[in-house]
Parts: sequence; structure tokens; C-alpha cells
Amino acid sequence: MTAQLHYGKPAKIFHWLIVGLLAVQYPIGWLMPDIHRGMSPGAAMTFHISIGIAILALTALRFLWRLTHPVAPESSLPVWQRLSSEAVHWLLYVLVLATTISGWLFASYRGWSVSFFYLVPLPMLASDNAAAGRAIDGLHQATEWALLIIIGIHIAAALAHIFIYRDRVMQRMLPG
Ligand code: HEM
Ligand code: HEM
Repeated sequence: MTAQLHYGKPAKIFHWLIVGLLAVQYPIGWLMPDIHRGMSPGAAMTFHISIGIAILALTALRFLWRLTHPVAPESSLPVWQRLSSEAVHWLLYVLVLATTISGWLFASYRGWSVSFFYLVPLPMLASDNAAAGRAIDGLHQATEWALLIIIGIHIAAALAHIFIYRDRVMQRMLPG
């Protein structure tokens, strides 16, 4: 399949929609009430889980779109920047996947029943298992922080292209 030179509208919409959802998801995660034994998920947790599942679904769709609509790296970039940006983009996909699946497993091991935005029941990945729940809780926190660090590096690179290299890399992901 021949790679296009520019990101199309769907790739840009997926990108910025997921950025917007992640910007809401982290504050909800940090501000929602702490979990304690025997609790059932309240509104904040239901929204956290629903937004997380939406991020997972959009990321999967976006990845399929990327596979079927490949985009060539900016031709003016030196090899080290092409390779490092490719590695960071792959890591972003892997860490979004790891964060959402670990959160989903955590909720499943708690034995919760949760609905997707109070609309339809959400299928759970496993049944009630307290020990597995404790193990996966640490994993969700580790992946959520690793994802935040890689997002920080990705944003720093975008800023470097705007203010230091002054090239057109940022324009590639902007509307138009
Ligand atoms: C990329 C998407 C996600 C991000 C960025 C994220 C982020 C977070 C954050 C920041 C916390 C607070 C934990 C802390 O105090 O450090 C949290 C907790 C939690 N999240 Fe997520 N989350 C995501 C997806 C999900 C999904 C899809 C589910 C379930 C289906 C989920 C279930 C939970 C649960 C049950 C907790 C409370 C347990 C805990 O503190 O680890 N999360 N999440
Ligand atoms: C303010 C925040 C952000 C800015 C300014 C930004 C900027 C950009 C730019 C300019 C590109 C194109 C790079 C190139 O062509 O080489 C890009 C691609 C990409 N960005 Fe971001 N980004 C941001 C946040 C995020 C977040 C939070 C994620 C995490 C999921 C993400 C995931 C990706 C991925 C995976 C690509 C590769 C293209 C693709 O596969 O669709 N970005 N971003």
C-alpha cells in the first residue's frame, strides 16, 4: 500500500478526539472517590470507566485506520527523528491499550457491574477475584503514569518542532 504524504481528516479527528478524552480522563481518575471494600461504582467511576472504554474503542479504530491508510514521515526529518517519532507513536498505542485493559480488568476483578454511560451494560473481562484485583491495581497506576510520561515527551517534541526547528511537523496534525 502506498503511503500518503499527509494525515487525512479521519486520522486528525481520531487524534484530537482521543487527546480531548484523555484530558478529561486523568482529572476524573485523580479526583474520583477512593475505592474501598464492598463499594459499588458511583457516577465518577461510571464515567471514568465509560470514557476509558470509549478511548479504547477509538484507539482500536484509529489503529486500523492507520494500518489501512499509512502516512509517510515528514521528508525533511533526519533519520533519528523519523525513528524516534515512530517509536513514540507505537509506545502511545501500546500504553493506551495497556492502561485501558488493566483498568477494565481491575473493575472486572472487583465483581462490579457497570453500564456504558448509563446506557447499556458493559461486559466484564473476568469474574470477582480480590487477589488478582490488588495485583492489577498497581498495573493500572504504572501504565497510566508511563502513558503520561510518553505523552509529555510527544508534546515536548511537537513544541520543539514549532519553536526550535520551525518546520511544518505540527501543521501535519492541524485542521486543513
Ligand atoms: C487511557 C485511559 C485511562 C486513563 C488515562 C486512566 C487513568 C486513571 C487514573 C489517573 C486513576 C487514578 C489512580 C491514581 O490515583 O493514580 C485511575 C483509576 C482507576 N481506573 Fe482508570 N484510566 C483509564 C482507563 C480506565 C478504564 C478503561 C477502566 C475500566 C474499564 C479504568 C478503571 C479504573 C479504576 C477501577 C480505577 C480505581 C483503581 C485505581 O486507583 O487504580 N480506567 N485511572
Ligand atoms: C497537545 C497534545 C498533542 C500534540 C500537540 C500532538 C501533536 C502531534 C503531531 C504534530 C503529530 C504528527 C507527527 C508526525 O507527523 O510525525 C502527532 C501524531 C501522533 N500523535 Fe499526537 N499530539 C498530542 C497528543 C497526543 C496524545 C495524548 C496521544 C496519545 C494517544 C497522541 C498520539 C499520537 C499518535 C499515535 C500519532 C501518530 C499518528 C497516528 O498514528 O495517528 N498525541 N501528534
